[in-house]
Amino acid sequence: MKDHAGTICEPDEQIERDKFVGDRADSPTAGSSIDAFGRTVDYLRVSVTDRCNERCLYCMPEGYKGWAQRDDHLSADEIVRSVEAATVLGFRKFRVTGGEPLIRRDILEILERIWALPGTQTLGLSTNGTRVAALAESLKRAGVRSLNVSLDALEPATYRAITGGDVVQVLAGIDAAAAEGFEIIKLNCVLLRGLNETEFEPLIAYAGERNLPLRFIELMPLTQGNVLSDPRFLPVHELLGRLSRRGRLEALRDYRPGNGPARYYEFNAAWLSHPATLGFIGALTTEHFCATCNKLRLTADGKLRPCLGRHGEIDLRSILRGGGDIAGAFQEAVANKPESHEFLSTYNPGRPMIAIGG
Ligand code: 5AD
Ligand code: SF4
Repeated sequence: MKDHAGTICEPDEQIERDKFVGDRADSPTAGSSIDAFGRTVDYLRVSVTDRCNERCLYCMPEGYKGWAQRDDHLSADEIVRSVEAATVLGFRKFRVTGGEPLIRRDILEILERIWALPGTQTLGLSTNGTRVAALAESLKRAGVRSLNVSLDALEPATYRAITGGDVVQVLAGIDAAAAEGFEIIKLNCVLLRGLNETEFEPLIAYAGERNLPLRFIELMPLTQGNVLSDPRFLPVHELLGRLSRRGRLEALRDYRPGNGPARYYEFNAAWLSHPATLGFIGALTTEHFCATCNKLRLTADGKLRPCLGRHGEIDLRSILRGGGDIAGAFQEAVANKPESHEFLSTYNPGRPMIAIGG
């Protein structure tokens, strides 16, 4: 099968919708919101802040000053009202993200209240990991079942060059989360040619030893429309090709921890003490990447966004503050969900990842 770059990649695999790990068994049966392309949209990513204590190269353009004002951020009540309206429409899966969600003071309250909603089936959190060590126990108690932790490098100087932060804190956070026994802890590594290529194998060994799935994510456009010509862009098929020469990759067709778009493989090699579970998110080069998309995004400033890679947004904040029809806004966002992102055609990065919610 050809991908967009014209190179051979793995055959498309049918992702089974029902193979979720970490779901709550007793949630009410879903009503459902089905979009114009027959996809069941039941997953909402909720960004609770556009601020962060790190400065990842791929998330925030240098010199970025586009922060939302504090009053423009949704309050905990507004977030919970939005999520509750979504559950009525059949949304069941929620992931709280940012910016860095753990810098928000009322984060535990927000998580607890989302988890307390009868319609919530799974609750995840995406974090840079720097504050997890101190919060792991509280997060688990608040209802978080699945943690995604960004980890682009293990080597401290490389980690700092990419994120501006301290990897030691992140590794302590991962250890604390593992000790706490979260159902799913996934590691995310953005593929950055020339920046973290030498880190891929150490990261694989690290993830294998801890039995944590590690996902490699293609760089999505941030500062220029055509990310494929960005010198830092490294397609997932290139990494798959390299790994197939360094060990054995076996597709895990039915494996889908959490609700994300990764394709998973088990990777084993003589140089590893444990096999690793690797996910590949080829948002730019995988054909039909959007065919199984099941999500909407809610930005920290209250915009409902049907697709990460298109600019259309619905101003939910005005609806929340003006007494309008919240569920109607969700229905409209589902109805407006495009068939696919525009990353390869007309996309012009306007709002960076930190403002949308990674
Ligand atoms: N391209 C690809 N992935 C990104 N992330 C943030 N910005 C980008 C980007 N431009 C990912 C990070 C983080 C997750 C929430 O989003 O890996 O772990
Ligand atoms: Fe912060 Fe995450 Fe963006 Fe990095 S990717 S700057 S950790 S929000």
